[in-house]
Amino acid sequence: MDLGMGKTGILFLIVWACCGAERQYFHQKNASTWEEARKHCQSCYKELVSLTADNIQFLAQNLDADYWVGLRKNLSDSRCWSRWSNGDPLTFQNWYPGRPKLPKPNMCAVNLGDSCSNINITKQSYLADDVCMIQVDEFCMNTTGVTRVYPMCIPHVEEEVEPSENSCVTLLSSGMWIELSCDKPLPYICYEDRFYANATVSNVTVDSMTVSWMAGPGDIKLYRVEVRGDIHLTENTTNLTMNFSDLTSGTKYRVQVFPVRCDRDLNPKNVTFYTEPKCVRNLTVINVTIDSAFLSWVQPVGNHSFYKVTVNGHSSLPRHYNENIQIENLRPGENYTFIVNAEVEDQSRSGDTVSTSAYTIPDKVSQLNATEDKGTITLTWMAPEGSSCCYRVCVQEEKKLIYFNKTFLGTNLTLKNLTAGTEFQLTVAALAGLMPNDLVKGEAVTIMYTTVPSPVSNLTLNSSSGCITAVWNHPVENFYRLKLGQGPADFTEITTNETSHTFKNLKSGVPYNVTVYTELTNKSLLSEGVSKCIFTLPLAPERIYVTSYNMTSISLKWDVPKELQDSMVNYEVKFTADFWKHTERMNVTERNVTFNALKPGTKYTFEVKTLAGVLESESIPTFAFTVPNNKTLILMIQCSSVKQEDCENKTKILEDLKNIVRKKLQDQVTWNLELKEK
Ligand SMILES: *[C@@H]1O[C@H](CO)[C@@H](O)[C@H](O)[C@H]1NC(C)=O
Ligand SMILES: *[C@@H]1O[C@H](CO)[C@@H](O)[C@H](O)[C@H]1NC(C)=O
Ligand SMILES: *[C@@H]1O[C@H](CO)[C@@H](O)[C@H](O)[C@H]1NC(C)=O
Ligand SMILES: *[C@@H]1O[C@H](CO)[C@@H](O)[C@H](O)[C@H]1NC(C)=O
Ligand SMILES: *[C@@H]1O[C@H](CO)[C@@H](O)[C@H](O)[C@H]1NC(C)=O
Ligand SMILES: *[C@@H]1O[C@H](CO)[C@@H](O)[C@H](O)[C@H]1NC(C)=O
Ligand SMILES: *[C@@H]1O[C@H](CO)[C@@H](O)[C@H](O)[C@H]1NC(C)=O
Ligand SMILES: *[C@@H]1O[C@H](CO)[C@@H](O)[C@H](O)[C@H]1NC(C)=O
Ligand SMILES: *[C@@H]1O[C@H](CO)[C@@H](O)[C@H](O)[C@H]1NC(C)=O
Ligand SMILES: *[C@@H]1O[C@H](CO)[C@@H](O)[C@H](O)[C@H]1NC(C)=O
Ligand SMILES: *[C@@H]1O[C@H](CO)[C@@H](O)[C@H](O)[C@H]1NC(C)=O
Ligand SMILES: *[C@@H]1O[C@H](CO)[C@@H](O)[C@H](O)[C@H]1NC(C)=O
Repeated sequence: MDLGMGKTGILFLIVWACCGAERQYFHQKNASTWEEARKHCQSCYKELVSLTADNIQFLAQNLDADYWVGLRKNLSDSRCWSRWSNGDPLTFQNWYPGRPKLPKPNMCAVNLGDSCSNINITKQSYLADDVCMIQVDEFCMNTTGVTRVYPMCIPHVEEEVEPSENSCVTLLSSGMWIELSCDKPLPYICYEDRFYANATVSNVTVDSMTVSWMAGPGDIKLYRVEVRGDIHLTENTTNLTMNFSDLTSGTKYRVQVFPVRCDRDLNPKNVTFYTEPKCVRNLTVINVTIDSAFLSWVQPVGNHSFYKVTVNGHSSLPRHYNENIQIENLRPGENYTFIVNAEVEDQSRSGDTVSTSAYTIPDKVSQLNATEDKGTITLTWMAPEGSSCCYRVCVQEEKKLIYFNKTFLGTNLTLKNLTAGTEFQLTVAALAGLMPNDLVKGEAVTIMYTTVPSPVSNLTLNSSSGCITAVWNHPVENFYRLKLGQGPADFTEITTNETSHTFKNLKSGVPYNVTVYTELTNKSLLSEGVSKCIFTLPLAPERIYVTSYNMTSISLKWDVPKELQDSMVNYEVKFTADFWKHTERMNVTERNVTFNALKPGTKYTFEVKTLAGVLESESIPTFAFTVPNNKTLILMIQCSSVKQEDCENKTKILEDLKNIVRKKLQDQVTWNLELKEK
């Protein structure tokens, strides 16, 4: 016995190396003949059980009766006890001592390997009680290797029953075997290799799926498909596929496909899957800040486990369970697309994506500044951090008039025609979005800017001696700053709210610059100045002296008042000789003059006035005679009066004659009339 067991061990290993199925055993209580038992096992299981060194231990436990097993003498194509009903070679035997009964002459029971199934045993005989010798063909020995063929020796037992060819093996509750007539009704043991169903779920939608599977082993009457989740469905089919609809979206289901054979469920395949969740609804961006966005949505119809929120250009966000989310760390003024999917726990399916996009609020502009040049205001600023498309610029006069309110692309803006001398509110806000609509406005930056006041107009200056009066116009009431001076360093300044001013105590005949500025006193902001220049009215010379004269020249000299003393003025000297109808003017800078080439004995009248710019003083007159160059003219007088006494009154005649000459010459030239008696 020991020898046999030891030698079969090797074959047993080879057998198990080829198959890996988990074997299941089924004890059938209803007594049947061996053939009936085999038929039932074949239709409802796989076969009658084959015993091996491996399963004998397991099967022999708790055996309460004798059972048919799958070993029959001379089974169809194999000889003797050589092969199990499922075709496996007889690698293990556990006969009750003395069994099986052998026919005479004693024959060996031999188990040969698979590959030697058609080997001819040419001779077999017992050498001793438990040693048997066989002879096999050389060919077979060569192909199998003779060392692999072990003769199995069965001890010779005294016969109790005639050995019959219709013998089948019965497993005793002790685990040992005896052969019995195959027609005897006995319980039996079937086996089946555990069936590994293969079922797959495909074509999963929000509410349907298809489950398909591989055919079960043997004669499968039907497949029972059970679906468990929020519902429990059971369907029978002979097909290998089945569609299910009306499932709930986003829900976990377990599908089991039971091949049913002989009213027995074979091992099912359990498949769990999730239906696809539906998409979230009404995804809305509730609000945005410069760096965050608040989203809200309505949960999808059906079930879901969590939400996946994706934001372009943003690190991935963890699973989200609420129907709203605050997304932080966004960049200002950027277009973000927010995608929300409903997901199932294992993330095998996700609902259709729903997206919405929004711009975050742009950041503030920086370094907003205004500069003015000749009435043109240039507004400049720096683009904000992040993105922005453009700017809204609003120019408003102290919450009243709006001068400018436009969307603008650049970062500098030139404004013209703003009211001068007025405070403006300049507001710039960055915008994000697509022009021209749907713009998101960032926080505005405001500066106050006061335009330079407008200059005065129509400045007119009038001067008298020592005074200058300036008069000007300006459309609105204002303060004015006046500068009066003769040079850039030498000036006096006054402020007034009148539109005229008189400067007093000025030097005479001196040019003065008067500059008038409009002034916003609260801002100490001055307009451009308007300047004019005027001389103070010069004073006339004070006294004129004739310093010398002769026949043809007269020299004059004059004094000036002390106000004129330092002034750089000119003097105009005009002389007239009425008799000669001769008038001449002369401008001099000194305070004396000499006229030459005059006519002798003539009265010259002089007028001297001070000139300062276009202004002139009143003239101071004087006169002088040149020394006469005497000429004598003799006139004869013939008295023809009827009255003697008329002719005799010579004094009167002379007087009359003088009067006649005086009438003609007056005192324009030097003359005298004398009466000389002949
Ligand atoms: C076995 O023996 C029979 C008859 O003796 C013969 O016909 C047959 O060919 C042999 N088979 C082999 C494989 O040698
Ligand atoms: C069997 O093998 C032996 C030795 O290798 C050889 O001599 C003999 O011819 C072989 N027999 C056959 C039938 O191949
Ligand atoms: C199950 O079936 C699929 C195809 O229907 C096949 O690809 C897969 O290999 C099978 N799995 C097993 C364990 O049989
Ligand atoms: C998937 O299911 C839909 C609806 O149940 C059906 O119309 C379609 O033919 C199926 N496709 C496959 C490949 O089974
Ligand atoms: C499915 O078949 C089983 C028998 O295998 C039966 O008991 C059951 O009622 C059937 N179910 C349906 C839905 O037909
Ligand atoms: C099996 O499939 C066919 C079509 O493929 C269908 O007409 C039939 O109803 C199915 N039978 C069952 C029991 O599902
Ligand atoms: C399938 O689930 C059932 C319980 O419902 C369990 O007994 C069985 O072992 C499972 N089958 C597999 C292959 O996991
Ligand atoms: C989605 O929004 C629309 C319009 O705002 C509203 O009529 C509808 O009821 C909302 N749906 C849900 C599920 O809240
Ligand atoms: C955005 O809206 C949500 C919900 O209405 C609110 O809780 C949150 O304070 C708002 N955020 C801002 C910045 O307005
Ligand atoms: C924001 O970006 C998305 C995706 O690129 C685009 O479809 C959408 O029109 C953009 N929105 C605006 C206002 O430009
Ligand atoms: C505005 O610009 C002027 C000239 O460039 C500069 O002097 C001044 O400091 C700036 N003001 C501000 C507030 O930046
Ligand atoms: C400027 O224009 C925009 C759009 O045209 C308007 O919404 C805004 O109120 C205006 N600003 C002012 C100060 O009127």
